[in-house]
Amino acid sequence: MRLLEGPEVGAGAESYADHVRRLGGVPDLGPGLIGTLQRSGLAGRGGAAFPTAVKWQAVAERSRGQAVVVVNGAEGEPRSQKDRLLMSARPHLVLDGAFIAARVLRARRVIVYIGERHQSARAAMLRAVAERPDPERGLVTFSAAPARYVAGAEAAAIHFLNEGVATPTTVPPYPFERGVGGAPTLVQNVETLAHVASLARPGGAASTLLLTLAGGVATAGVLEVEAGVTIGEAMRRAGGVTESPRAVLVGGYFGSWVEPERAWLLAIDHESLRRHGLGLGCGVIGLLPASRCPVCETAGIMRYLASESSAQCGPCFFGLRALADACTRISEGSSDGHDLQRLQRWAAEVAGRGSCRHPDGAVMFLASSLDVFAREFAHHTAHNLRRSA
Ligand SMILES: Cc1cc2nc3c(=O)[nH]c(=O)nc-3n(C[C@H](O)[C@H](O)[C@H](O)COP(=O)(O)O)c2cc1C
Ligand code: SF4
Repeated sequence: MRLLEGPEVGAGAESYADHVRRLGGVPDLGPGLIGTLQRSGLAGRGGAAFPTAVKWQAVAERSRGQAVVVVNGAEGEPRSQKDRLLMSARPHLVLDGAFIAARVLRARRVIVYIGERHQSARAAMLRAVAERPDPERGLVTFSAAPARYVAGAEAAAIHFLNEGVATPTTVPPYPFERGVGGAPTLVQNVETLAHVASLARPGGAASTLLLTLAGGVATAGVLEVEAGVTIGEAMRRAGGVTESPRAVLVGGYFGSWVEPERAWLLAIDHESLRRHGLGLGCGVIGLLPASRCPVCETAGIMRYLASESSAQCGPCFFGLRALADACTRISEGSSDGHDLQRLQRWAAEVAGRGSCRHPDGAVMFLASSLDVFAREFAHHTAHNLRRSA
């Protein structure tokens, strides 16, 4: 079963009546579903690819009827579109997953946390909840995630829901121990929940992934592919490239640049990407056209990531700013020639030094830039030196 099968995606949200006609109602399930999730190997689609069954088991063991399910539709990654598309077109699939989680984990609340800029997704989800029968409808409340990159991190979501501040907090306690209102909490990405809804149905499988294709591709936007399809094949299905790419960004801003010849052959699934030292993150695959300057592109993304630090941890706030400034100096031709070495040194000092993974993601992205664009960084640096000589 594909998440986006059924009526034309552009036609708007599928109604509850049509959804039930097509797929049947929410199956009556108990804790046995956790075994099904484990056997399926379902991993989270919010970025970290964490095994879903492990999270459910941890919450189930502590719930005592008090657990909270947070439906994470913050989608703060600028290039990602798959979560808002899923909520806009198939809201009942996401809600089925949330209500299945509530039932299996014996949760008393479901909180739908949607990025404040994703207006049509929010409207579709609100309408969809209103269509559901009680007691499902009575479980749900909505919350608007601030439009910041880190607001979608699970600790930030819980901080926001508890105190109105969308910045990550230190862990432990983990959400499954003490989350919303102090209760054991499951924070799950909307795509992951839609796959749960699919898996819970007879013969269901979670065998597809939602990608957002960005950059020089004929049909940019969301594409659903079967796990294991190569990036080259995904590009072919999207109509091919419009301009020869210099590199492919696999996994979005917390991901890595890859040379196109290597990228085309990579199979899109968490395990095989991990074997290549890569991750699918939130599913963004972005092409950098050869006509664009990779150093300028890297500097722009680093400035964005630095500006999105929640400014709570020194190495993240000051370190990312220093890295972004050095990239900018190199790209603009005002570097003193030592910035390349500074980047290497400072990146090592920032990694692993924050309360959340934000600086680690930024540094991983930068490391891949320095590797894949080594020629361009060296060229810019040499040019800087010639100018200052
Ligand atoms: C800086 C940062 C931003 C994140 N933003 C999102 C987001 O917008 N949406 C999301 O689902 N997960 C986001 N995550 C991942 C969440 O912390 C969490 O792992 C995820 O919601 C869990 O759901 P999953 O297991 O279904 O992926 C982010 C993580 C970090 C470190
Ligand atoms: S690591 Fe950065 S983004 Fe994360 S909590 Fe600390 S300052 Fe905020």
